[in-house]
Amino acid sequence: LKLRSAEFIISSTDVSKCPDTDKPEFAVVGRSNVGKSSLINMVTNRKSLAMTSKKPGKTQTINHFLINDDWYLVDLPGYGYAAAPGKARSAWNEFTKDYFLNRKQLVTVLLLIDASIAPQEIDLECAEWLGENQVPVSLVFTKCDKRKKTKAGGKHPTENIADFESMLKETWDELPPKILTSSVTGTGRHELLSHLSQLRSF
Ligand code: GTP
Ligand code: MG
Repeated sequence: LKLRSAEFIISSTDVSKCPDTDKPEFAVVGRSNVGKSSLINMVTNRKSLAMTSKKPGKTQTINHFLINDDWYLVDLPGYGYAAAPGKARSAWNEFTKDYFLNRKQLVTVLLLIDASIAPQEIDLECAEWLGENQVPVSLVFTKCDKRKKTKAGGKHPTENIADFESMLKETWDELPPKILTSSVTGTGRHELLSHLSQLRSF
């Protein structure tokens, strides 16, 4: 799959305002700060197509990016960030649940997992919810370039990934496909693009 063009189309505050189109789309989902917007920039080879930030909570709307005039990458708000996690979680749910369940064009959710840290309960919960609701998922591990600098219990990304998968195995018969990426080094770009093209058979 060759990337010829990438353009920002629209920011929407709910699913009814998303582009009215038959073109297939892939949603980029994950915790705040996991690297969703960075991944979109890495995949499209554009420095600031999607807005990124060191501070979590940057993306607050559903953002459609049209690729090759043919399909969409969709940047979503992150979950799991707020002083009151419960409240933030339900706001996230309300906002995006509707999108996951009612967006006909959605081919697969790319669930981003930070490979530089230990498995997070909220990520496992998100995977469970998507699985229970029969939303197709692929796991995209981010920040594979990163290593904990201190020896204080920090594990290598490959170990964190293995831990995450073994926790998921407790409830999933078959693990979803996985791709290892880094938006800093560009690792996994080609693999991700060919994975997407296989999913929708471009
Ligand atoms: P929200 O929009 O707040 O939900 O966050 P997001 O998931 O879109 O994260 P974003 O792409 O804004 O990145 C958050 C931070 O992580 C930024 O400081 C990025 O530079 C950093 N980051 C993202 N991807 C990588 C990566 O692959 N490796 C490293 N080392 N840092 C990354
Ligand atoms: Mg973002």
